[in-house]
Amino acid sequence: MKNIVILISGSGSNMAAIVRTAQRDNWRKAFGAQVAAVISNRPDAAGLALAREHLIATEVVDHKRFATRDAFDAELATVIDRRQPTLVVLAGFMRILTPAFVARYEGRLVNIHPSLLPAFAGLDTHQRAIDAGCKVAGATVHRVTPALDHGPILAQAVVPVLAGDTAQTLAERVLTQEHLIYPRAIAALLQGL
Ligand code: GAR
Repeated sequence: MKNIVILISGSGSNMAAIVRTAQRDNWRKAFGAQVAAVISNRPDAAGLALAREHLIATEVVDHKRFATRDAFDAELATVIDRRQPTLVVLAGFMRILTPAFVARYEGRLVNIHPSLLPAFAGLDTHQRAIDAGCKVAGATVHRVTPALDHGPILAQAVVPVLAGDTAQTLAERVLTQEHLIYPRAIAALLQGL
């Protein structure tokens, strides 16, 4: 079985979209794949309850319990590796990962970022796109490399920036597209694994 491990920090709506698609499209039969676990670095992440509703195993590795980024990433890797992952999916996982962690999962680690990379890596993407006067915005699914938000691009979705948009209204429009492109990009990857 190809195990998918999903890392979250917050509401987990991308995670839920992936889980729903895996169930709807029967990824077990189609790719021999399953979402094996959802791991959060925040004990209060709302996505944990969502995962449990879908009968997915959940774990918490609270970054606040670790003195260094290296120590946190090492424990995170131990918890991930117990699931023998074919793919590690970052879905709103708001931690910068160490080069050692990224190297460990090279070729198996993907992320979704709420901008049209390489534009607007980092935080506050929607406000920055509005401030820059962008006419379009979007989201990018990419492989994770040591350079933050800069791995090879797997999928993108474009939405218009409308007059009167706030960061929140734009984020909602982008998120709707994230829920479509992320499961699709993962299915395409699973086909080739
Ligand atoms: C999503 O918009 C995702 O693209 C973004 O956080 C949100 C998580 O929402 N990720 C990043 O900003 C990563 N740098 P979700 O928890 O509901 O999926």
